[in-house]
Amino acid sequence: MEGIIIEGGRPLNGTVRIQGSKNAALPILAATLLIRGKTILSNCPHITDIEHMMNLLRSAGCAVNSENNRVIVDAKVLSKTAFPKEDVDCMRSSVILLGAMLGRCGEVSLSYPGGCVIGERPIDLHIQTLGKLGVHFKNEERRVCALCAHLHGNDINLPFRSVGVTENLILAAVLAKGTTRIYPAAREPEVVALCDFLKKAGARIRGAGSDEIIITGVERLAETEYCVEADRIVAGTYLFAATGCGGMVELSEAPVLQMKSVLRVLKQMGAQVKADENGRCIRLEAEGRPHRLPFVQTAVYPGFPTDLQSNLVTALTKADGTSVVEERIFENRYRILPELRAMGADLTQKEDRVIIRGVAHLTGAELTAMELRGGAGLVCAGMMAKGKSIVRGVEYIRRGYEDIVEDLKQLGAGVGWTGVEKR
Ligand code: UD1
Repeated sequence: MEGIIIEGGRPLNGTVRIQGSKNAALPILAATLLIRGKTILSNCPHITDIEHMMNLLRSAGCAVNSENNRVIVDAKVLSKTAFPKEDVDCMRSSVILLGAMLGRCGEVSLSYPGGCVIGERPIDLHIQTLGKLGVHFKNEERRVCALCAHLHGNDINLPFRSVGVTENLILAAVLAKGTTRIYPAAREPEVVALCDFLKKAGARIRGAGSDEIIITGVERLAETEYCVEADRIVAGTYLFAATGCGGMVELSEAPVLQMKSVLRVLKQMGAQVKADENGRCIRLEAEGRPHRLPFVQTAVYPGFPTDLQSNLVTALTKADGTSVVEERIFENRYRILPELRAMGADLTQKEDRVIIRGVAHLTGAELTAMELRGGAGLVCAGMMAKGKSIVRGVEYIRRGYEDIVEDLKQLGAGVGWTGVEKR
C-alpha cells in the first residue's frame, strides 16, 4: 500500500525551495477560460489538483499543455459547457468554473464540487451572489446548472469574506456590463494574484487586497503570461515542522510578505526567525520543546490561516505547557486529532477549540491522512515522534504538495515513499 515512511526524532537541517501556490494557480487557470487565446503560466505547481483543473479546461475544449512547471492554455475555442462528474467531484475549487464559464459562455453545468472533507462546505453564497449579476440557476439533482443572457455589474455585500465567492464574482464581473463592487471582499494574497493576472490581461480591477474590490467590465481580455507566486501554506508547513523537530532550516523563494501572522506565531513558539523580504528567504532555528501558546485562532487573511491549523496543532503537541487553538473558518477541521492521540498527544476538543497539553515526546505510529492539510500535519508529527511512522492516504497530500518527501529530505528528515512509484 502507498505511503510515506518516516524515521522520526531527528532535528532538521537544510534548504528547500518553495513550490508555486496551489490556491493562486487554481483560480488563475479557471480565469484562462475568459481569454480567447493563449495564456502561459510559469511556476505552476505539479500537483494533482492542478492536473484536475487542466482536465476540466480540456473538457471545455481548451488545448492545455504542460511541461515542468509551465502550463499553456489555449482557450480560443470552447466546445462544451458541462463538466464531467469525475473531475468536478475530486476538487472543491472546481466551483470557480462557475464564474469563469458564465463570463465566457453565459452557461455552465457541473456537479456539486467535492474536495477535502472539512465540514459541509456549501456553495450557497456562490449561487446567491452570482444571481445578483444576472445568473439564473436551475436546480437539478446533484448538479448546478447556470445560465445568463447578459451578466451585469452590481453591488454585492457579502455576509463574510469568502475567498472562493470573491474569486467567482471577480471572474464573472470582468467581462460583465457595468461595475461590480464586492464588499467586504476576501483579502487573501491568492485573490490579489488572480486580480494581478486579470489586470495583466486587460481587466479593470481596483482595490484587490483591500475591503472593497471594484471591477469595471471590459469587452475582452488579451493573451498573457504570468508567473505564479510561491505557496505560503507549503512554506508554513516546513517552518512548523522545523519548530516541532528542532534544527535550522532555510526556505528560498518564500512569500515572506504574505507570512507575517505565521512568522509571529512561530516566534511566540520560541523559534528564531529571520526573514529577508527582498531575498525571499526565511531562516528558522529552533531548539528544545516549543513554547506553549495560550490562545491562537484561525482567521481570514491577514490572520492565521486555517490551512496551517493542523501543522500548528501538531507542533504544539510537544510544547512546554498547555495551548489552545480555535478553528474559526471550517467546522470538522480537527480530523487528525485521533491520529495524534494514537501517537501519545494529549488533546481535548471542545467544539471549535482544541486544548493541547504538551508532552515530552510522541511515539511513531501507523497513520492515515483524511484530507490534504491534515495529511501534511501527520507527516510532520511522524518526524517529531520517536521511532517509525507510516502515513497512508498520500493521495490527499499530493493534491497540494509537489513532492513533500523530496522537500523534507532536503531538510534532512528521515522520510521516504513506500509502495509507490515516484512521480
Ligand atoms: C479557500 C482555499 C482553502 C482555504 C479557504 C480559507 C482555495 C482553492 N481554497 O477555500 O484552502 O482554507 O479559502 O482561507 O483557494 N462558505 C459557505 N457558503 C459558500 C462558500 C463558503 O458557507 O457558498 C463557508 C465555508 O464552508 C467556510 C467559509 O465559508 O466555512 C470560508 O470558505 P471560503 O473562504 O469560501 O473558502 P474556499 O474558497 O472554499
